[in-house]
Amino acid sequence: MAKLAVNVDHIATLRQARRKINYPDPVTAAMAAETAGADGIVVHLREDRRHIQERDVRILRQMVQTKLILEMASTSEMLGIALDIKPNLVTLVPEKREELTTEGGLDIITHFNTVKESVKHLQNGGIKVSIFIDPDLDQIKTAHKMDADMIEIHTGAFCDATTEIEKEKQFAKIVDAAKIASKLKLGVNAGHGLGYSSIKRFKGLNEIDEFSIGHSIIARATISGMEQAVRDMVEIIKNL
Ligand code: PXP
Repeated sequence: MAKLAVNVDHIATLRQARRKINYPDPVTAAMAAETAGADGIVVHLREDRRHIQERDVRILRQMVQTKLILEMASTSEMLGIALDIKPNLVTLVPEKREELTTEGGLDIITHFNTVKESVKHLQNGGIKVSIFIDPDLDQIKTAHKMDADMIEIHTGAFCDATTEIEKEKQFAKIVDAAKIASKLKLGVNAGHGLGYSSIKRFKGLNEIDEFSIGHSIIARATISGMEQAVRDMVEIIKNL
């Protein structure tokens, strides 16, 4: 059975929208996710610190009981933080300041030397390494060549496809990528853009070990908690 790692970045997005307040806390959300059955907690510590802060990662390291997965760019600053905090897994991702969210897989053919060095450093520090890549045969072979422990297949193009033909074309790429990676004995994770409908297409694709999902879960949590949140405030105001 595939596992679920829950990304809590957007709880921090909500907190950072009001800079001076300390809620909602991604650590509290992570605890709730674990209670509900999450197999891991994911956070992306971005260079611009737009949502998750270093403090969050440090507290999560102490609190998470399942496994802590740190998404990060392959930079010396991030390597230092990861080697100090020691998450269970690092997922190397590309990062651009101007993007709203990660826009594509890391091109590890172009950035072979830098990424290979990062993989080696992290593994020497006892941290497993995954690389977030597009479902592309050459990228997968390169991940194998640089001794990554696993890959995360970028599912964004599949999730964003607007026609059935395009969706199936993109899904076929994911299937091929998962099967090839699995044959090469790489662990296979998948994520980006997955929601309550698109996830159903993955039924029977047993090569995928774990899904990494954030935005759709946090979005649903805000709506499914709305009635109770309003009831609580109505009750207080009624009793003023
Ligand atoms: N995997 C990676 C590498 C990501 O960068 C993200 C987004 O932070 C996700 C998975 C989760 O994507 P989403 O929030 O769309 O579920």
